[in-house]
This record gives sequence, C-alpha cells and structure tokens, in this order.
Amino acid sequence: MNPPLPPVQKPTFPKQDPATPGFWDARFDAAFTPWDQGGVPQSLLNHVAQHPSPRKVLIPGCGSAHEVLFFADHGWDVTAIDFSPAAVLHAKQRLGKSGSLVREADFFGDAISREGFEVIYERAFLCALPRRLWAAWATRIAQIIPAGGCLIGFFFFDNNEYGPPFGIGRAELADLLSPHFALTEDLTPTDSIAIFAGKERWQVWTRLG
Ligand SMILES: C[S@@+](CC[C@H](N)C(=O)[O-])C[C@H]1O[C@@H](n2cnc3c(N)ncnc32)[C@H](O)[C@@H]1O
Repeated sequence: MNPPLPPVQKPTFPKQDPATPGFWDARFDAAFTPWDQGGVPQSLLNHVAQHPSPRKVLIPGCGSAHEVLFFADHGWDVTAIDFSPAAVLHAKQRLGKSGSLVREADFFGDAISREGFEVIYERAFLCALPRRLWAAWATRIAQIIPAGGCLIGFFFFDNNEYGPPFGIGRAELADLLSPHFALTEDLTPTDSIAIFAGKERWQVWTRLG
C-alpha cells in the first residue's frame, strides 16, 4: 500500500498589498487560486435561466473568467476585466478564441464607467479588495449601473480580521449599496467551495431610478 500523500502546502508569498496587481500575479503564477470554483456556479445558471433577455454585463476581477463563455453562449454582451496581467494571460489562454472578451483593466479606472453596462457580476471581487476600498467600490458600482440595472452575484459574509477574502457584514453591505440599490433576491448558494461555504449568499441588488 502507498503511504498517504502529504497535505498540499500553501506556497509562501512576499508581503504585498492586495490592492496591487503584483499580489494577484504571484498567486496566478504559482497556480495558487483557492477561490476559483473551476466552473459556472449553479446560482448564476439559475439566474440566466430565469432572465432570458440578454444584457450587457461586466465581470470585474474576473480571474480565470469561467463565466465568460456561459454568458456569451446565452447571448449576453460580456466583458471581463482584471488588473493582474497573470490572471488575464491565464484567462485568455483558457478561453482560446473567446479570449478577446477578457482584458486587462483596473475597475477603478475611468474607461469602465462609460461603456454602458447594465449588469455587474460579482464573484470574489469585493472580498478581494482591502476594506479601505469598499466605499470607492460602491461609488463605482453605482456610477456604472443605470436605473433598472443590477448587481448580481456572491457576497462573502464574515467578520474575519485578515484576508483576502475580507468578509463583510450584512448591515455594512446594505449601508454601502442602499443609497442606490434595493436588495431584490437573497439566496443560499448550493455549490459553495470550501473557503466560502456557509458564509456566502447569492444576491441581486437592483439599481433604483
Ligand atoms: C479572489 S480573485 C477572484 C477571481 C474570480 N472572480 C473568481 O471568482 O475566480 C480576485 C481578482 O480580482 C482582481 N482584482 C483585484 N483588484 C482589482 C481591480 N482594482 N481591478 C481589476 N481587477 C482586480 C485580482 O487580480 C484577482 O484576479
């Protein structure tokens, strides 16, 4: 009988700020992506099935961008962005000829807010941002999404001190979004991966007029 395999070791990384691309480059270069679901989450499959009219959607902080082909195959006009060159390279290589749907860009850069997105898909992006950036995130979300548009996706609720992932409180998320959005769906995901299990919700926030 073979001896048991040793536990997978977490690589060590230089101390870097998660607000910089280098933090994420190091993890993609080391193929250390424990947040990566490796596919399209069931809650998104359900949402698109229930909302058959395609819309123009932005995926900020897309990482491996597993959802891009799913959106495109359902007729959605999808753009995925990430500020980490290593993440973008990885996503483009994975997507082959659809790699042009992914581009290197900072969510906080100016260009993104002028491109007419109706929907923003959130997955492990807000919780990747240091908490000092959350107010700016909420401002940018409200700038991008017009009345009737939606912020859809997964929110990681926790009061952990260290991250990423940086957990948020329900009241804190509501404080950030409620000036411009109403919570219109709030469900337990059925296929959470280990680092988010029991602590994430699928939510839809609809932009008010
Ligand atoms: C935890 S990963 C999540 C990736 C992907 N959404 C997923 O669920 O697998 C967070 C991603 O956000 C990206 N990111 C962080 N800050 C960003 C910013 N200001 N603009 C664009 N991308 C950013 C990182 O490079 C990283 O790929």
